[in-house]
Amino acid sequence: MRIVLVGPPGAGKGTQAAFLAKNLSIPHISTGDLFRANISQQTELGKLAKSYMDAGNLVPDEVTIGMAKDRMEQPDAENGFLLDGFPRNVSQAEALDEMLKTEGMKLDGVLDLEVPEDEVVKRIAGRRICRKDSSHVFHVTYSKPKTDGVCDVCGGELYQREDDSEDTVRKRLEVYHTQTEPIIDYYKAQGLVVTISALGKVDEVTKRAMAALQGDA
Ligand code: AP5
Repeated sequence: MRIVLVGPPGAGKGTQAAFLAKNLSIPHISTGDLFRANISQQTELGKLAKSYMDAGNLVPDEVTIGMAKDRMEQPDAENGFLLDGFPRNVSQAEALDEMLKTEGMKLDGVLDLEVPEDEVVKRIAGRRICRKDSSHVFHVTYSKPKTDGVCDVCGGELYQREDDSEDTVRKRLEVYHTQTEPIIDYYKAQGLVVTISALGKVDEVTKRAMAALQGDA
């Protein structure tokens, strides 16, 4: 399966992607995680991406599309992938369509996670992520680690993302509404979108998402 996950910052895309990717036996590809890995390794790409991410803006398409393409071409993504955070505007969606067409492939679905803005703010304010691997995500209330400040998965230190400050979150939400939401209509025109509520316990949302992707919702 080739799936795109879309939803506002804090909707739970990364949280759900981890479970869905495991259930569907496909890799979880997050452009946000790829950028954060580059930032922690202090690569040139990481230095460039950081300035945009800290301000809540999108990293330019020229670098983002190339990075996503390189990742999708890895052998583990040969039979499918779950994209989280890519595409994030219509030109990235067009580039993805073009990439897939060249390989004789197509997307199977776009899962749209709907969540009210006040819930997004609560989720982001309490989010803590692992310094060793930013795909390990916790919440101080909703998804507490066994030991405060320590990742249950790998023992890494948990911290609050720099782009989770109130001002930056406001900017990220604005960017989501103006630049990312239009991809939902773009994919609706291709009959690919299934929308679910991302409210409720994590496992309830996963069940809802699996049912929607398998056409049972
Ligand atoms: P990215 O890392 O993709 O951030 P985002 O889209 O803003 O999404 P988040 O990671 O904030 O939230 P999420 O939906 O994954 O929620 P999570 O599962 O963590 O991108 C960051 C930046 O990178 C962008 O701003 C941009 O600068 C750049 N970038 C990335 N991709 C790009 C692209 N394609 N083009 C250009 N630039 C790009 O959950 C949030 C919290 O809620 C967690 O604490 C979690 O434990 C908790 N939670 C989750 N589910 C539930 C639940 N059901 N109930 C209660 N709590 C829950």
